[in-house]
Amino acid sequence: MCGIVGYIGHRKAAPLILGCLRAHEYRGYDSAGIATAHDGKITVKKGVGKIAEVDAKYDLEDMEGHAGIGHTRWATHGAPSRANAHPITDCTGRLAIVHNGVIENYAEIKKELARRGHKFKSETDTEVAAHLIEEYLKNGLEFEAAVGKAVARFRGNYGFAVLKAGEDKLVLARNGSPLVIGFGRNEVFAASDVPALLRHTREFAFMEDGDLAVIDAKGARFMHDGRPVRRRRMHVSWTADMAQKDCYPHFTIKEIEEQAASIPAALRVDVGRAAKLVRAAKRIHVLGCGTSYHAGLVFKHLLARAAGRECEVFVASEYGESAVMKPGTLVIAVSQSGETIDTMMAVRHARLHRAKVLAITNVVGSSLSRGADANVYINAGPEVGVVATKTFTSQVAVLTKLALAVAGRKVAVNGFAKKVKDVLALSGKMKEIAHALRNTDDFFFIGRSLSAPVAMEGALKLKEIAYVHAEAYSAGELKHGPLSLIAEGIPVIVIAPAAGETHHKLLGNIRECKARGGKIMALSDSSRLLDEGKWKVPMPPVSEELSPLLYTIPLQFLAYYSCLERGFDPDKPRNLAKSVTVE
Ligand code: G6P
Repeated sequence: MCGIVGYIGHRKAAPLILGCLRAHEYRGYDSAGIATAHDGKITVKKGVGKIAEVDAKYDLEDMEGHAGIGHTRWATHGAPSRANAHPITDCTGRLAIVHNGVIENYAEIKKELARRGHKFKSETDTEVAAHLIEEYLKNGLEFEAAVGKAVARFRGNYGFAVLKAGEDKLVLARNGSPLVIGFGRNEVFAASDVPALLRHTREFAFMEDGDLAVIDAKGARFMHDGRPVRRRRMHVSWTADMAQKDCYPHFTIKEIEEQAASIPAALRVDVGRAAKLVRAAKRIHVLGCGTSYHAGLVFKHLLARAAGRECEVFVASEYGESAVMKPGTLVIAVSQSGETIDTMMAVRHARLHRAKVLAITNVVGSSLSRGADANVYINAGPEVGVVATKTFTSQVAVLTKLALAVAGRKVAVNGFAKKVKDVLALSGKMKEIAHALRNTDDFFFIGRSLSAPVAMEGALKLKEIAYVHAEAYSAGELKHGPLSLIAEGIPVIVIAPAAGETHHKLLGNIRECKARGGKIMALSDSSRLLDEGKWKVPMPPVSEELSPLLYTIPLQFLAYYSCLERGFDPDKPRNLAKSVTVE
């Protein structure tokens, strides 16, 4: 969702910014650019495409200057084009700006500025910021005061980094879109999130909403509502190596394989305090988007089954409209990045109604974690591939532990790491199946109880990276409509762990599909269920509670290999971004 980078220090800015942008590319990749300040002038190079394409065309490293800003874009206002790519400049060309987020009232400000003679070169909302700051500078304001006055006029959410010719500083502003500041020796960095800067520093300060920050080579100053404020520095434990592809062709497959370690690590996370909060709560709301929503659904089933407690799970973007707020509500906000704006807005709504917030995130220092009453970190390490893989299973592992802890039980982990490895060994089999299904355009995923959200997650992965139409249903629901779509040859992927009480009903659902020509892919540890499949994916025996952790993995492989079969890049799916910071 647009990645911002800023640098000021003793080294040449452009190559450093380029490196950080590459590490930031999962936030958006339809256009990119860099601006540097040198000799009292600003130079901008930018273009359409992934960073490597823009670099090949314009040689982004070859720019003078020790201060600069960079951007990799995920278009909101204005199609991907050279003019709309950031950095965006003002009329004088002495000011350059990069932006993440949406300025909701940009149209009225644009009209006003156009009346005053400002010439607009792009269709972006960002450009009004450049001209508005220019206007305030013309009226005699200092650089940071001009930025402060401009952002005070904006509605919406934003992260800005602003560069001005002749100034030895960058000005940053944040409201809703994350910005972190990284400290090196005689150099200071800014970025939309931590992984972009790990190659250079592990010392960070995190801007809060409404903050303005001024950075120079020596450090950072923060202001809030016009007054100086302190922002604590934190040391992060992630390293740059953790966010490297190593010998893997893609981050996505690396991160799928990493589940051999990340699932056991998540099952070791301490959930004691969180369990107390759940026990003490009168009612529980779980919020998440996309994959994180599916993890919430697994939790709902487990909490009901293990602890006899009810909870409601909400797609975060619908929470404000559909939740009934009552005293004593605990909100469990699930978000890998901890930055998803829909989740943040839902949490804000919950806070207005005095709900307590427990955040389940992967990113220490993320916006969600900083605003929560309590945090559980899933400890999955950085996830770079746009689609969530290892972070989903880590969320599920932590939430499984939590649901059982509420019931005073522990997860039986003995031998489980070996089972994860056994399932990871199914990679080759899933590759063959993906090959066999390379020309298939419609897929159905079904499961019952805990396996229904796993089916939803499997379908989402396939849609996200293989661009294939996939539907997921609770198996019993199929006969209430979607069965009409099951025709000769349509693959129906059945998530069928033998444990639990539903597999005999599932057999009935499988037969309904087969009778209409559906071709079954059975994932099961029961030979009876496997025998129903045209494609059989034999799974190790597992308790029902832990089954989502294992059964998700073959579906991730299926999506990954289906993506490769169709010639797409799994790490950068079209139209998507890893961290979505617009509503
Ligand atoms: C985006 C990503 C999804 C992800 C969702 C929630 O839409 O493309 O893959 O599941 O955000 O992300 P979060 O960081 O809040 O878990």
